[in-house]
Amino acid sequence: MKKKIVFLTGAGVSAESGISTFRDSDGLWENYNVMDVCSAAGFRRNPALVHEFYNARRRQLSEVEPNEAHRAIARLMDHYDVFVVTQNVDNLHERGGVPSDRIIHLHGELMKVRAVNDESKVYELQSELSETTTETLIDGHHVRPHIVFFQEAVPMLEPAAEIVARADVLVIIGTSLVVYPAAGLVNYVRRDARIFYIDPHPAAVPSRVHVIAATATEGMNILMDELRDL
Ligand code: OAD
Repeated sequence: MKKKIVFLTGAGVSAESGISTFRDSDGLWENYNVMDVCSAAGFRRNPALVHEFYNARRRQLSEVEPNEAHRAIARLMDHYDVFVVTQNVDNLHERGGVPSDRIIHLHGELMKVRAVNDESKVYELQSELSETTTETLIDGHHVRPHIVFFQEAVPMLEPAAEIVARADVLVIIGTSLVVYPAAGLVNYVRRDARIFYIDPHPAAVPSRVHVIAATATEGMNILMDELRDL
């Protein structure tokens, strides 16, 4: 049976594709205050600004490509049972070759919107250039980004925890591990599982975690060698 490798990724895995991380930019994200554009209170206060922000994020997504780290993760599927649990809302893991049924987006997806008044009604946008506003109606519903804002629950946490709990190897890439509950997923890993953490500026982690202080693309190369020795 193939060994199960679970990747837990954050903004750093997409950095080399040209998408800025959150905390490397002083709390300002692409020149916006994170709490204005990524919180439930911010959306109530100024929904037009939030639509504008996510329209710009989607436009940016149309201009970037998956990098070698995204592709290397997909290639590992030849030899391992691979799952990705990502905090990222971009679609670069999918475009890098990992099927969407192997990816959990903990914090939602840029390419989806949902009804403002019914969170079970989720709609996939046709193109990265699709724009939404406070006036947009889909299926008769006003919509909002399908993003987990600060102050909102993380509905995908439980399935993600189940996947992490079954991992033989957990590989954390490019996350500052400060946002909960995502950061807490590490605690679900089995005692006998191996844990790697690829990040050029890694957060403090327990000694059982094998830290690879490198960028995502460099770190994936190093990881390949480490996996050969497992
Ligand atoms: P952060 O911006 O907090 O952390 C990014 C991490 O990526 C840092 O540890 C950097 O050292 C690392 N990094 C930078 N360049 C890198 C590279 N080339 N290769 C690998 N790593 C690199 O981003 P996250 O931890 O993902 O939530 O942030 C978690 C959540 O906070 C996000 O999902 C978002 C934000 O609020 C929501 O949108 C709900």
